[in-house]
Amino acid sequence: MMNNIDTKKDILVLGIESSCDETAAAVVRNGRKVLSNVISSQIDIHTIYGGVVPEIASRLHCENINGVIRLALEEAGVTANDIDVIAVTAGPGLVGALLIGVSEAKALSYAWNKPLVGVHHIEGHVAANFITNKDLEPPFVCLIVSGGHTHLAVVKDYGEFEIIGKSQDDAAGEAYDKVARAVGLGYPGGPKVDRASVGGNPEAIKFPRGFVKDRPYDFTFSGLKSSVLNYINKAKMMGEEINIADLCASFQEAVVESLVSRSVGCAKELGYKKLALAGGVSANSRLRSAMKEACAREGIECCYPEPVFCTDNAAMIAAAGYYEYLNGVRSDASLNAVPSLRLGEHFS
Ligand code: KG4
Ligand code: ZN
Repeated sequence: MMNNIDTKKDILVLGIESSCDETAAAVVRNGRKVLSNVISSQIDIHTIYGGVVPEIASRLHCENINGVIRLALEEAGVTANDIDVIAVTAGPGLVGALLIGVSEAKALSYAWNKPLVGVHHIEGHVAANFITNKDLEPPFVCLIVSGGHTHLAVVKDYGEFEIIGKSQDDAAGEAYDKVARAVGLGYPGGPKVDRASVGGNPEAIKFPRGFVKDRPYDFTFSGLKSSVLNYINKAKMMGEEINIADLCASFQEAVVESLVSRSVGCAKELGYKKLALAGGVSANSRLRSAMKEACAREGIECCYPEPVFCTDNAAMIAAAGYYEYLNGVRSDASLNAVPSLRLGEHFS
């Protein structure tokens, strides 16, 4: 569906992202070429509290968003006049944080007289693959692993998803963050566990791999998390020292094995030859290497975004917004922040 859009002309999308603790803006040409990607991270401040404090996140988005957008235009070497479309994350995420980006995008759309597209944050994560892998086109299987989502989906077309499996409890990133906190690595946990596991023995501790009865493509991480917490408490009670590298490597191996076996199994079963990773956890070094190896064994092409496009950024929102725009999706002044929204549902 092209909706009378002249696809011969370049389309520049300004993407805006403020769903959690990054204030971000980016300019992307034709959904694939990043001209600028500005991210103002609030991690240092939230680290003091051991996690994201929603009120502080909203306030910082408010303080930083104008400067971040100005910088994104400047770094791309464009002005407001050159922008064709404004794309903004409208959900899911923290409602107060989302509202800052959505209000800003609506104001700019009105002031600059440019079309507005509300984007699903997770659809943005999937679209990050189009930036790094220029030839990737749907259909493909996508494992989406972030702080709030663990989904196995078939991307049937741009913006069209079929959910095949999901986590029954914690998201993969959440499990990483909780384990990191329990071993004293702090926030954000994923990258810290990733780093701490280097040199650790992934077979040192046999943690459980959770399965969901009659749901072969669903995930469960609560049993694994409890098992790690029990291990730590028991060691503390006995006065034994914990080998952090072994513990992190063993935990990570359990998570990665669950993710890889279901993803590759799903692609094989459904007959897809392409598999993509998306979301913050797809920056994980072990997940990337294990998925690549398992796919190679099955003759499946495996791809993932560059690490900077795995975690929250606005270039991925601009990329998803571009394809939604081509599909005829338009938002107006009634666009609102939607804190929880299923993948595949659209904003109006
Ligand atoms: O996609 P994302 O940036 O934000 C959400 O949409 O949730 O994902 C954040 C999650 C956090 O749980 C973080 O700990 C995890 O991604 N993460 C990682 C790594 N980098 C970020 N998990 C494992 N290994 C990493 N290298
Ligand atoms: Zn995210």
